[in-house]
Amino acid sequence: MKQKLLTLLICSVSLSAVAERKVEDVNAHKQYKQALAKSIKGSNIYEIEPSFDFETVLDISNQLNGAVQVSQNTLNQLPEAVTDEDFHIQPANKVALGKLLFFDKILSGNLNDSCATCHHPFAWSGDGLSLPIGEGGDGVGVTRTTGFMEAGVHERVPRNAPQIFNLGAKVFNVMFHDGRVVEDSTQPSGFISPAGNDLPLGLDNALAAQAMFPVTSETEMAGQSGENSVADATVAGDLAGENGVWAQLAARIQGISEYVVLFKDVYPDVNTASDITFVHIANALGAFEGDIWRADNSAFDKYLRGDTAAMSPNQIAGMNVFYGDGGCSQCHNGKFLTSNEFKSVGMPQIGPGKGDNLPGFRDGLDDFGRERETGDSADRFKFKVPSLRNALLTGPWGHAGAYNDLRTTIKHHLNPAQALANYDESQVIMPYRRDLSAVDFAVMNDTLSRNALLSNLDIANVSLTETQIDRLMDFMDAVTDRSSIDLRTDVPTSVPSGLPVFE
Ligand code: HEC
Ligand code: HEC
Repeated sequence: MKQKLLTLLICSVSLSAVAERKVEDVNAHKQYKQALAKSIKGSNIYEIEPSFDFETVLDISNQLNGAVQVSQNTLNQLPEAVTDEDFHIQPANKVALGKLLFFDKILSGNLNDSCATCHHPFAWSGDGLSLPIGEGGDGVGVTRTTGFMEAGVHERVPRNAPQIFNLGAKVFNVMFHDGRVVEDSTQPSGFISPAGNDLPLGLDNALAAQAMFPVTSETEMAGQSGENSVADATVAGDLAGENGVWAQLAARIQGISEYVVLFKDVYPDVNTASDITFVHIANALGAFEGDIWRADNSAFDKYLRGDTAAMSPNQIAGMNVFYGDGGCSQCHNGKFLTSNEFKSVGMPQIGPGKGDNLPGFRDGLDDFGRERETGDSADRFKFKVPSLRNALLTGPWGHAGAYNDLRTTIKHHLNPAQALANYDESQVIMPYRRDLSAVDFAVMNDTLSRNALLSNLDIANVSLTETQIDRLMDFMDAVTDRSSIDLRTDVPTSVPSGLPVFE
């Protein structure tokens, strides 16, 4: 049954003529949602609805007539087409091992969440929430709850869970909203990271290096002091020691014979269970993420590969706005529509923050972004320019997930001051709990703090017509890979620890 629906979905996308494509896409997505609803009925497992309305973001009427010319200005800026060369290519057995680890709660201190909890195929490699609910929570996606009493979450995760699409591309050598993991050949480990010299050698790339860290976060995966020995090591700052976080988690994996067989198969330097280290685990996780969530077959990609009919007239018009009047390509440029730089565009700051304080504040509810890494106040409120590939699917948007509507997110850029003044709190998607919710909008409700967000902008106001914004939405559609719409087959049915994959 599932298989049938899936085939149907694929056919309806690939057979569609250019002019009708959008109508077809909307139908395909409707079918997907229906299939999803069916597959979850009765099981009470996944009740994931996209947190945004897919149908209304696609402008299916009003297709511009005739050929729209790609402007010379756009042509001057268009990147080369994406190729295999752009990616770290990984062996299939390593990808397969990484998949199991990615969904295995064995890597969390209290055995209650996995990487997939916040980066789920059903939520397009994110979690559908403004701010994630980490270890202690219950469920997946937008229906995830804050958990039960003492075992429940202690705070919200302070930043939005970013999408993982295309991160296997070599250009993505900077990880996290503030870039705290970055490839750097002058470091012994090859990376600058929060672990400093404790970061072990042998990590494949930035994506693998990133995978060392979620397990060391109390809120994300480790748990609270006193709850388990991984959490205790985390709180003591012992990551790399004999009984540190990484050794303890590697020991768990060493104790599962099914994993040992797989690790021996993937890594020539693993001969016995005790040879398995967290570096092997992280490299497999990185291999999986980079391979499975490759999304480089959008209409835009086809266009760049020479199929000039792949993009609709509206999408071409949108591309012209993106590279022209919209000024978007100042920051969202290159093959993946990101310059990989850090910029301040004044997006709303919500949630518990990263402990940063403007002069006169002590509540720690701010997030200074890149300044936290460089110590330079000129970097205050700068965040990594995100890739816009698949952006249609990856809401809520912004470093704190404050926007739950792509159009509003785009409009924010046009006039950040106006956007902050009119910010609508009701759009956030995260479970209410009195103590957590009490601080969610403290920064936004304080004039001084809100104005501070606007004090260091890298973006000037831009004036676009509503029609131009419609076209930008069409371009966002053009950079979204249709094969990323239904990712259900990316979920394994079971994992070697025997822990539940489905909550
Ligand atoms: C509780 C939710 C949660 C869990 C569990 C979690 N993540 Fe994340 N992930 C996040 C958040 C939030 C960020 C952004 C944090 C920041 O920038 O400070 C992030 C960032 C990332 C990034 C960086 C993406 C980018 O573009 O910079 C990658 C890759 C990633 N996570 C992979 C993983 C892997 C692998 C695991 C499991 C080992 C994992 N995550 C577990 C929430 C989570
Ligand atoms: C000055 C650089 C800059 C320009 C110009 C710019 N952006 Fe952005 N954009 C950013 C940064 C930085 C973020 C992330 C901000 C944050 O997380 O707080 C972002 C976020 C976004 C997001 C949310 C992505 C996500 O995954 O959360 C979208 C969508 C977006 N920009 C679209 C556009 C469009 C469309 C334009 C042109 C109208 C544009 N941007 C112009 C820097 C820029």
